[in-house]
Formats: sequence, C-alpha cells, structure tokens
Amino acid sequence: MKVLVVGSGGREHALIWKLSQSPLVEKIYCAPGNGGTVAIAKNLNISVDKIKILADFAEGEGIELTVVGPEAPLVAGIVDLFEKRGLKIFGPRKEAAQMEGSKSFAKNIMQKYDIPTGFAKIFTDHKKAVNYIENHEVPLVIKADGLAAGKGVFISESKEEAKKALDYCFVNKRFGSAGDKVIIEEYLEGEEVSLLVFTDGETVLPMVPAQDYKRIYDGDLGPNTGGMGSYSPVPTVTEEIYNEIVEKALKSTIEGLKNEGIEYRGVLYGGIILTKDGPKVLEFNCRFGDPETQAILPRLESDLAEIMLAVAERRLANYGELKWSPKNCVTVVLASSGYPGKYEEGFEIKGIEGANLKNGVVVFQAGTVREGEGVVTAGGRVLNVSALGNDFKEARERVYEAIKEIDFNGMYYRKDIALRAVKSQSGVGSRK
Ligand code: GLY
Repeated sequence: MKVLVVGSGGREHALIWKLSQSPLVEKIYCAPGNGGTVAIAKNLNISVDKIKILADFAEGEGIELTVVGPEAPLVAGIVDLFEKRGLKIFGPRKEAAQMEGSKSFAKNIMQKYDIPTGFAKIFTDHKKAVNYIENHEVPLVIKADGLAAGKGVFISESKEEAKKALDYCFVNKRFGSAGDKVIIEEYLEGEEVSLLVFTDGETVLPMVPAQDYKRIYDGDLGPNTGGMGSYSPVPTVTEEIYNEIVEKALKSTIEGLKNEGIEYRGVLYGGIILTKDGPKVLEFNCRFGDPETQAILPRLESDLAEIMLAVAERRLANYGELKWSPKNCVTVVLASSGYPGKYEEGFEIKGIEGANLKNGVVVFQAGTVREGEGVVTAGGRVLNVSALGNDFKEARERVYEAIKEIDFNGMYYRKDIALRAVKSQSGVGSRK
C-alpha cells in the first residue's frame, strides 16, 4: 500500500517511522516532510494547506491511505475533499474537526453532554465580555474561539490582564476572525495529561496516556511553546483515573457527537486536568499530539497502518485490542536558541546517527532540512530524542546520554523532562 503523510514535524516523522514498520506499507510520501522523513519517505514540495493539490497527488499516484498530522488541513476540510473523490483518509471531517477548530463548538458539546470541564461563557460582544470579567474572580482563562497557532489562550491573573486579552481579540484583531468569538473560562488547577483515542465513530480504542511540557524553561517557567518534551505512561494516572477519562471525557464526547449526527473518525485528543474534583477536559484536539506522539508510538506494538485503515474503513469493532510495550518512554525536544521567539536557521546538525545507535533511542526530526549529505536546522523545534527504558530513570538516562552525541549552534533543551515521573515511580515528591 502507498501511504501519504501530511505534515512536517516530529509527530509526522514518528508516524512515518511507525508506518514504515508495517508489512502492509510499500511506499510512503510526506508532504512536505523534513530532513528526517526524507530517509524513509519521499518528500513532496506541497504545503499542508494545499488540500486540492494533495488530493490531485493522491489520486494520480494511487495513494491508498492518507494520514493527516496537523489540525489546519483537517479544520479546512481535507477529509471531506478526499472522501468526495473516493480517496481513503485518516482523520475527522471538517464538522467533527471543530472539536479543535472552534472552542465554543467543543464547549457547547461538553456542556450539552455533561462532559466534566471548566465552567465557561461564550461572548461575541466585547462590552458584555468586559462586564463578565468585572463581576468574576480571577484567575480567568480567555480563549480565542478559532485556530490561533497555539497563541490564542491567555491565563489572566488580574482583571487588567483579562481585559487586555479581550482587546487582542476584539480590538487589535490579533487572531483575525478566529478572535471574533471569545470563551471566558474558569482556571482549572492540577496536573495536565494527554489521553488520545483511535475511533471510527463507533468503537473507541484508547492509547496510553502521556504528558507534555509546554513551557520553555526547567521548572515549567517562561513562555509557552509547542512542547519541549513528553513522557508515557503517566504514573499519576491510575487505572481508575484512566478509565474515568476514557469513559466520561472521550467516549461520552464521541457518543454526544454521534447524537448530533456528527461522526468523529480519526484521533481524538483529550487535554485533561487532574483537578481535586476529578479529571476535567481542558481542550480537545482533532489529531495526534506533538511531542506526545513521539513518546507514545515507540510503545505501540500493534501495526499502526492496520489500525488507521480500520478507522478509515469504519471497522474498528473487529480490530481487537491495541498492544503496548510496558516500557517507559521519554522524549526531549532540542530547540534553536531563541525559540519560541526569534531564532536563526541553517546550522549544521551533528551526531544524529550516533544518538540513534544508542540502546532504546530513536531521533525524530522536526525543524530540519537535508543539505548535501547532512541536515541543517530549519525551525524552532529541531529534533526529538526519544528513549525507551524499563523505568523512567533508565529512559531518562538514555535520552540525556544520547543528546550528548548531538550538537548544533545554539542547541537548547530542558534538563528536567520526566523528572517528576522518576520521582513518582520512586515514591519521592508529591502530585502537583
Ligand atoms: N502537545 C500539545 C499539542 O499537540 O497540542
């Protein structure tokens, strides 16, 4: 089978790495891909928003399965277009992708179907939103309704900050039409966990939980990023908590959508906060997480292509169980100096091969491009180094040993990824 993967990050490299292990898969294309995907797939010079050109390519090349990494093409309707043209594709249609594409849509579904989540109000009127802030206690979370490349969420510690966030949306139009509607939400306190499921709209197969690190600096300090590291499983997620999240947050949402006449197919990603009152949904995403995928897929022992085909063909009920390695996985992101602000590109990257040879280690590339025989930096998040170990201590040691092999100008990474998982496993420290 010929497969097309849409995207260019570490998540897509991890998806291709796993798909390439399937006996069902003969050839993989990646649009546009990166310096790592080119070694196991054919990179195409087509950007992720060119959905018609992607469909033309898939039709012309006889692609039998397309897998979409990022949210933007899903929200733009890539699945609808491919299906209209009789092309098999893994992901939710435009209407279902609103679970990520419109925060008010997702919140309305959660409120209607009693999905545990924070209290929230939706506003299209600036004055009414300001009035709401005047009459409520901070902290409050202000969210632009639509896709804002991860920049549309503001945790406001004061009413002034909250009003400034409203200005960004309603007055400065920082997010264009994505900020014409705003959600003001209760701040949920607790540890954040990502739980993703495969679903064909009927059957739900949950993955192992993961946790990502959003802030740039150790100790969860500094500005938010796309994610600086991740690990799986999450020791604080007991079997009881896991089952509660799967049943009350994920299965109930997919059921609720079905009740609305919306079939959700693909991956549904629940961003969950473990509050003192139980797990609550912070947000949903309509795709695999990045960098969670880089810590989840090394643990998947089942054939990813088989699962994705079963989802695309609506026959997940007959698939059986997913098989997971009991090992622990840790992923550390190596970033360009200056990220998530301004950074330079084009620096030679050394040592990827040496790192890949280390026991249990795999390097997934993100912001890289091939140049001659080597690869150079071409983005903020450059590489993801993942390692499996018998416990988190071993996985962490392997990751940080492998990173010693790698070097590029301005390389920056967090030193505390999965430290809390090590502490949890050894009974030291406390839940946050
Ligand atoms: N790691 C967060 C996300 O993928 O949205």
